[in-house]
Amino acid sequence: MAEYRITVIPGDGIGPEVTKSTCQVLEKVAEQSGHRFLFTEAMAGGIAIDETGDPLPPETLSLAQNCDAVLLGAVGGPKWDGLPGNKRPEAALLGLRKGLGLFANLRVAVLFPELKEASPLRPDLVENGVDILIVRELTGGIYFGKRGLSESSETLENGTPKGMEAFDVETYSEAEIERILRVGFTSAVERKKKLTVVDKANILETSRLWRKVTERVKADYPEVEVDFMYVDNASMQLLRRPASLDVIVTSNMFGDILSDEAGMITGSIGMLPSASLGDPGKPGMYEPVHGSAPDIAGKGISNPLATILSAALMLRFSLGLSKEADCLEKAVKKVLSDGYRTARHRRDDKESHGGIPV
Ligand code: IPM
Ligand code: MG
Repeated sequence: MAEYRITVIPGDGIGPEVTKSTCQVLEKVAEQSGHRFLFTEAMAGGIAIDETGDPLPPETLSLAQNCDAVLLGAVGGPKWDGLPGNKRPEAALLGLRKGLGLFANLRVAVLFPELKEASPLRPDLVENGVDILIVRELTGGIYFGKRGLSESSETLENGTPKGMEAFDVETYSEAEIERILRVGFTSAVERKKKLTVVDKANILETSRLWRKVTERVKADYPEVEVDFMYVDNASMQLLRRPASLDVIVTSNMFGDILSDEAGMITGSIGMLPSASLGDPGKPGMYEPVHGSAPDIAGKGISNPLATILSAALMLRFSLGLSKEADCLEKAVKKVLSDGYRTARHRRDDKESHGGIPV
């Protein structure tokens, strides 16, 4: 019997609904396992901007840094879209990632057999299921590089003044690459012993450094078969032969894009959990991959399963409660096989899936 301190950050849109349902489920887990979860709620995102003017108030970051794990709903919404970059709700996410040192983001795209017909891919491409783990670097690269915006004094070749000019710099150090690669290799060892490093090494210097570090680090994991794939090809292979991919490790930006694509293969991004992890012993952050879905917020029709599955990852990775995590995942499978669906989910089964967050 143990006590765990969980910081709950509901955020915006459907965030409060999905985290509330998940905390109820965790209370049940506590009841049955004898453990105690002490939930402390904290503000971040749009709601924090409205209440305090700051997307990530210092108290929130400090609570998150001093607990066992963080459970987050979603942040953002059209109301705050006009704000400058560092004042937007999304800045809270980046601040939490950086402030907690969460360099590894694990996103699993699993096609549940019960939801097979929801996949937009041809049935023969997904008949043996899809189970892809994307290991995304989360605290480096272009997301955190130098950026700037200024008036250019130059012209195009034809003399047209360039006008405003912006830049975002992608930087990766060997140490940053090595630690995320090791998460990729370790995950591959636990799965099918196959790792795909996704990059753009035909163009980018950072990618070439990723390859060089991979060549060195792979010696420590002789049982893992490694291959390199350009990101444009990876985006194609995800659609052409998704079952051939198992663990993908990649940069922050490529991981952002590919994880949405992989998610969509499963038919519903509303089912996908994620874990963001830092150094061992530090609190991890757990959140659904979907966004705040403001169009359906407050209607009681959002799908909490991605957050519940994220809580299962939290039990497993941050709290060391793998038996309880297995139970939670089993319960989700049972709910699906019993035929329960949200309204949006039912619609998803029949209609198109483009960009539907939940
Ligand atoms: C994600 C999201 C975030 C990201 C945004 C909301 C900042 O798209 O978690 O994938 O780009 O990392
Ligand atoms: Mg994204």
